[in-house]
Amino acid sequence: MQNNRGNFSKIGFIMAAAGSAVGLGNLWRFPYAVGENGGGVFVLIYLISVVVIALPVLMAEVTLGRFTGKNPVGAFNAIKPGSPWKFVGYLGVASGLMILSFYAVIAGGAVGYFFKALTGQFKGMASESAIASNAATEAYQSFAGNGVLQIFLLAIFIILTVYVVSKGVSGGIEKYSKILMPALIGILFLLLFRSLTLEGASKGVAFYIKPDWSALKPSVIINAMGQAFFSLSLGMGTMITYGSYVSKKENIPSATKWIAVFDTGIAIMAGFIIFPAIFSLGMQDVSGPGTMFNVLPVLFDKMPGGMVFGPLFFLLLSIAALTSTISILEVPVAFCIDEKKWDRKKASIIVGAIALAIGVPCALSESFLGVWSTIWGGLSLSIGALFVAIFIGFSWKTPNALKEMYQGADNFKGAKVWSFAIKYIAPVFILAILLSSFLL
Ligand code: TRP
Repeated sequence: MQNNRGNFSKIGFIMAAAGSAVGLGNLWRFPYAVGENGGGVFVLIYLISVVVIALPVLMAEVTLGRFTGKNPVGAFNAIKPGSPWKFVGYLGVASGLMILSFYAVIAGGAVGYFFKALTGQFKGMASESAIASNAATEAYQSFAGNGVLQIFLLAIFIILTVYVVSKGVSGGIEKYSKILMPALIGILFLLLFRSLTLEGASKGVAFYIKPDWSALKPSVIINAMGQAFFSLSLGMGTMITYGSYVSKKENIPSATKWIAVFDTGIAIMAGFIIFPAIFSLGMQDVSGPGTMFNVLPVLFDKMPGGMVFGPLFFLLLSIAALTSTISILEVPVAFCIDEKKWDRKKASIIVGAIALAIGVPCALSESFLGVWSTIWGGLSLSIGALFVAIFIGFSWKTPNALKEMYQGADNFKGAKVWSFAIKYIAPVFILAILLSSFLL
């Protein structure tokens, strides 16, 4: 099939896909999911899920997208016209709207915290009395509880996202990532150093890396797998859509491997920042969606140069979130452009407005946001990934997918392993995990 959408340059795809993958999922969602799911056990299952399930699905999605040159609905339809497979695409489009709605609330929070950091509001957060009185947590609660402010920040973030997406994928997205990503990683290393050198940091490290098997429950497994999909932007067609802009010269297996390594590395780093800090500073009441916002102000206050690095971090985080929201909005927008023949601008604005409306309850209630994140950011992605794997393995069939994958990657050695993973390992495990979480 001919694909003339090859809008990404060679390095552009890796950049854009890494920009999509790296975001709040790594720095905000991963640490709080670890905290809520028993620590080290969750981390271990997450890592296994990335390697044996998520990476094969990532390769599959990008390949499907490049072959068809379409949004998810169009992609399924192109290979099996008129079949019910297109509903997997519809589920992805719907999930995109739902994910965008809660994601943009947290992203708005990052913007808000940028201004808080800039205006010196983290000052004193690390003093003994501030820690004893949970000052950082309380500051976050009053911030998150300010509904008008939350809706305002949500709206700003959606508008930013709509603006970039309405301009098209090639120009904007590629450019940012090249400088900003390394800068973000630089600050993460500073935070890592600060956190790990705190007195008593090892208790946090132990919680984070020592699996406590008694914490293992079906829900832990499903949340870990869901997090692997979320973090790599899988299960709703983001990578199918981005794949549709990839040129035939691109080496898909190698590019996707690097994306997975990079994305997972950043998430793991985030945990090494958050948990030592929580444990060594004896912070109370840090759990749930507020975790990152409760912990980092304290760390920045305890760090030389925190007045500079604090605002810089939240600025970079906001931008990392933006390269992710762009990739989320792009799915329903590409659908409206391809299938409904809307122009890009109209599609971006209308879809953005709907996401904004759905985001309002998330902006007003943190517990609602947590539920939304679990359902749409975890469960629905697992279902989407399950169907992608079955579709590629048994409907389109792996030899056809491989024919596409070999273009730009004629030295790909993992073909057999990948085929086995996508046909058997991924579907069987995802299905078993989904069923056990419903039945047990
Ligand atoms: N992966 C991004 C993050 O970790 C979020 C994201 C972008 C996403 N596109 C997605 C999540 C598609 C699920 C599906 O922040």
